[in-house]
Amino acid sequence: MMASNMSENKLLNLLTDMNHYHKAYAAYCSKTTKWQELQKWTESAEFESIVVANLSKNLSAMDQQIRVLGIGSGEGILEIYQLQKLATKFPKISASVVEPSELITKYKDTVGRNPVADNITFEWHKQTFDEYLACNDKKYHFISVVHAVHSLGDPDVFIKKMYMLLEPGGILLLTLVTDHTGVGSIPLHQSELKDDKTTNNYVNSSQVKATLEKLQIEYTQSIYKETTDITDFMTNDDSEEGELLLDFLTGVINFKKSAPDDVRDRVMRHFQQVSRIEKTDDGDEKMSYKHTSDIDILFVTRGDKAK
Ligand SMILES: C[S@@+](CC[C@H](N)C(=O)[O-])C[C@H]1O[C@@H](n2cnc3c(N)ncnc32)[C@H](O)[C@@H]1O
Repeated sequence: MMASNMSENKLLNLLTDMNHYHKAYAAYCSKTTKWQELQKWTESAEFESIVVANLSKNLSAMDQQIRVLGIGSGEGILEIYQLQKLATKFPKISASVVEPSELITKYKDTVGRNPVADNITFEWHKQTFDEYLACNDKKYHFISVVHAVHSLGDPDVFIKKMYMLLEPGGILLLTLVTDHTGVGSIPLHQSELKDDKTTNNYVNSSQVKATLEKLQIEYTQSIYKETTDITDFMTNDDSEEGELLLDFLTGVINFKKSAPDDVRDRVMRHFQQVSRIEKTDDGDEKMSYKHTSDIDILFVTRGDKAK
């Protein structure tokens, strides 16, 4: 088979196989610092002033109970940090969770074993965002979408839908990859093999910002850095975990085996160039490759423009 035969070398979008996607995501989760970084950020003065203080200011005296919605919540690790923080300020919280995969069961089990706070009640929706919208029209004070917008399709459509779900003064928080670092900058995107139906089509923060500007929705922005240890796939050709991590970062199923040589070489060279290489002092001088990404956190407050 010729490596340049494009029809034989279709790169399959990871999002077309959710089973593989979740395995790849688990491999990434075990190697990234995103949990620590987002927990730190949720405990920071910025979350306090942008989310907690603004929500309190915007809420009417009637709104003693705030309604919070998580979309694509996974197993809830990051939302639990947010809810813990909100629970210290608001007397009652009703939290709705929209997550189509089995991960919602893990989220449910976690809060069943270790209740987040006495003043929070949960409502579970094992559904996609669109399925949820088809039968719910509740409005929310705070909507959180952490690393999930790439699963939601056209930002022009989902941003409008999310905005309309906000109460006046409510806040939408989106975290997503920037296009100049990390997943967004992998040269696969400029590949001649790019095909929206079959290859990576991650929605990045530029696309979402362009949508917000087009819809004349104001937003503010914060950035945090997360680092992923990619040593496995940089140094070990036989690591299944490493291949899954590479699949997550490229957004392609079985990237290492299915990409044509030139595309694979270009992507591996990219990782080599943007990685920070550290020598570990465990005797055998093993190199450890650390790949750092900027992640945008965008905040939208529903203001007077909303109709
Ligand atoms: C990258 S994971 C992020 C999970 C979690 N927010 C976190 O940061 O750990 C994306 C999540 O979006 C969910 N998802 C996929 N398609 C979705 C859809 N159409 N509507 C809502 N959630 C979706 C996936 O099941 C997955 O749990």
